[in-house]
Amino acid sequence: MESIDEKLAGRVDHYIEALFAPQDAVLAENLKNAERAGLPSISVSPNEGKLLYLLAKISGARRIFEIGTLSGYSTTWLARALPPGGKLITLEVDPRHAEVARKNLALAGLDGQVEVRLGNAAETMRQMAASGESPFDLVFIDADKPLYVEYLRLALELTRSGSLILADNLIRGGRVLEAAPGDPNARGAKDFNEALAADPRLESIILPIYRDKLDGLSITRVK
Ligand code: SAH
Ligand code: DHB
Ligand code: MG
Repeated sequence: MESIDEKLAGRVDHYIEALFAPQDAVLAENLKNAERAGLPSISVSPNEGKLLYLLAKISGARRIFEIGTLSGYSTTWLARALPPGGKLITLEVDPRHAEVARKNLALAGLDGQVEVRLGNAAETMRQMAASGESPFDLVFIDADKPLYVEYLRLALELTRSGSLILADNLIRGGRVLEAAPGDPNARGAKDFNEALAADPRLESIILPIYRDKLDGLSITRVK
């Protein structure tokens, strides 16, 4: 595949970060605790975190739902956008990740507004839909990519007209351009992108995001 000017793209990403998403003590501590606990460094970048924050804030989201917590880094960006009395529920299947995230969110002073729910996301979402959970204003999908299409289907049962659905990692270094990606994560992202584009209930776009490689975030409004 052709390459982009990775050095320039990286410098531009850091230029934007220094201006608009400078590191603060809470976010730095979050990533340090994640690293200490041996969690993979696959959190959203500071710039993508700021974008999530702005989308939540601009849309006035009071109820936010996240699939895939890891150390609670993206959770922190999203929860900081909540108004007083707002709530965020985040799902995590790995108890070690959930434990690190709970500690991080308490250190961030966000444990009153954020609930880390341990369990398999699809199963938990089915239960939430069946038990008549109030609709969420914003859903952020960022867990196992092969299940993204299913998460989209379930997210539509947990949202309302006007809700935002966001999903991470949809370009995968350009591997979604392959006709039949061998990488299961790229395959999952490609299937998701096509499901998103074809769904008449949704209006969407994917924003390319560059960090260490090219990836993308989808932004969807439920009609
Ligand atoms: N949103 C985080 C990164 C999440 S990484 C951030 O940007 O800061 C993906 C997370 O999804 C991992 O912690 C992984 O354990 C979790 N995950 C994977 N499969 C899952 C499943 N089936 N249900 C719930 N969580 C899952
Ligand atoms: C990767 C990155 C992510 O943001 C994620 O949620 C999962 C995996 C990765 O680069 O492998
Ligand atoms: Mg991600």
